[in-house]
Amino acid sequence: MPRPNPVLKVNNMDVIHTIAILNKRLREAGKVAFVPTMGNLHAGHLELMRIAREHGDTVVASIFVNPLQFGPKEDFQKYPRTLEEDCALLRTAGCDVVFAPSVEEMYPAPQQVEIIPPPIANELCGAFRPGHFQGVATVVAKLFNIVQPAAAVFGKKDYQQLCVIRALAQQLNYPVRIVAAETSRAEDGLALSSRNTYLSAQKRQEAPRLYQALKTIAHQLQQGQRDYAALEESACRALAAQGWRVDYVAIRDPHTLLPPAGKSERFVVLGAAWLGVTRLIDNSEVSAST
Ligand code: PAJ
Repeated sequence: MPRPNPVLKVNNMDVIHTIAILNKRLREAGKVAFVPTMGNLHAGHLELMRIAREHGDTVVASIFVNPLQFGPKEDFQKYPRTLEEDCALLRTAGCDVVFAPSVEEMYPAPQQVEIIPPPIANELCGAFRPGHFQGVATVVAKLFNIVQPAAAVFGKKDYQQLCVIRALAQQLNYPVRIVAAETSRAEDGLALSSRNTYLSAQKRQEAPRLYQALKTIAHQLQQGQRDYAALEESACRALAAQGWRVDYVAIRDPHTLLPPAGKSERFVVLGAAWLGVTRLIDNSEVSAST
């Protein structure tokens, strides 16, 4: 197979596949604002690009389906790869540079040095996807070193990931500002996700129920209810009754992601559940004053 053209010019946007060429391109790029992605981009990703524009002179997006963060039985092979369409979208979203490395470029040798994320990475999604956040933290650390951004934008859709990245940047002294973006949703409330393409028409109709269940808990918290276990349990039962296989529904502190302590007024309600072969995640932040 011929290697892709190292710098492909697409309307003033550079599509770069190697670290060496990226380094050259970014030498006089000023402040870089960075949006790491795995591609198959949707409006949520493009909103992150718009926010990135406000935080730097040059906007860089990466597209890399990172094998390190997929478990052996997960969807690494079938994860949608749509580089051409992604570049067309990024060009319209004001992106300056796309970094789309191969697996060999990112991992020329087995990755033996990895980032151990904080213990919270082993709970919630981490409990069901062992090693996932270690893989995420490791690739994001590598990407930060390669791109050297002044700011990097992450979505609240992946709330636990955002918390892990904040800890990574803070505790390893990365000189990068982590910017959080609100979750972009379809009209019926479903959080936009590359994995939504796995849903059949019928499952797509059912899919907004996860967010509805989390919002119901958010409302109950706002009403002053504080029996966290009972609220979680009833949401799990409601989802299971509609055919969902629930990994977890959890009410947590929005900063630590630990169970709320004392008289909490701020919460995040997080959930992950399977609809057929598709695992969906979502969350809802709550500010309750009782
Ligand atoms: P990916 O799932 O492609 O998501 C890239 C970024 O887009 C993440 O910060 C994610 O939180 C954000 N995002 C996805 N859907 C969103 C939505 N509906 N609203 C707002 N933001 C949304 O997350 C990853 O890739 C990877 O784990 C990565 C960080 C790139 C490391 O491999």
